[in-house]
Amino acid sequence: MKALKLIANLGYGSRKDVAAIFREGRITDANGEVLYADDQVEHANVQIDGEPLDPPFPLTLMLHKPVGYTCSTKDPGAIIYELLPHRFRLRSPLLASVGRLDRETTGLLLMTDDGALLHKIVSPRSKLEKVYDVTLARDLRGDEAKTFASGKLKLESEREPLAPATLEVLGPRQARLILTEGRYHQARRMFAAVGNHVEALHRSRIGGLTLGDLEEGNWRVLQERDLARLFAKDSRQGDEMMT
Ligand code: URA
Repeated sequence: MKALKLIANLGYGSRKDVAAIFREGRITDANGEVLYADDQVEHANVQIDGEPLDPPFPLTLMLHKPVGYTCSTKDPGAIIYELLPHRFRLRSPLLASVGRLDRETTGLLLMTDDGALLHKIVSPRSKLEKVYDVTLARDLRGDEAKTFASGKLKLESEREPLAPATLEVLGPRQARLILTEGRYHQARRMFAAVGNHVEALHRSRIGGLTLGDLEEGNWRVLQERDLARLFAKDSRQGDEMMT
């Protein structure tokens, strides 16, 4: 790929901005030889100011989302892109969130610029488990797990019933909910449907992938082995095997 296109696509600036960086002689190969905008280059052999470039396409990362950030590129309030290097917002193809977490939901959020991977993760057909730790405003009644597992629960204004979901009761107001689809505000609406209210919601696992020791507000790039863990057949076993 032409050096100028490669660097502009990584979000280092518009083509005009990047052309100016070339003119300043700040873009070199790994040996420090100055490169020119039209040079055909390999990502691994290009540096800016002596530093390697940001990771190439395809880039997938996990973010430990805090409360108060919206999964959007534009919002009057705080957005998840503010937790990443500024350039990541300007990449082409776009680094998009894989599904969404509500502004008040915390936990594991994946972001990728790989459209096929995004589709594979969010598709209900892949039946990838999403695990949510839930704190409720009221005590559980006792019949929620049966209702959620029935495959018959319909959310307000929806025609299709929800796929069966698993509820593990951890305390009078604490539970773990395991979903295989991702409808709008699904966890909150499910508890509303059984007369409760979600006070706090945290996504702790997708497939076999957990946050590990990633602290709130931090992110890290996923490697091949993380993606293997994400799609591990028996996700819990996959997680244990690979830690
Ligand atoms: N379900 C919700 O209600 N909110 C989320 O953020 C994720 C799942």
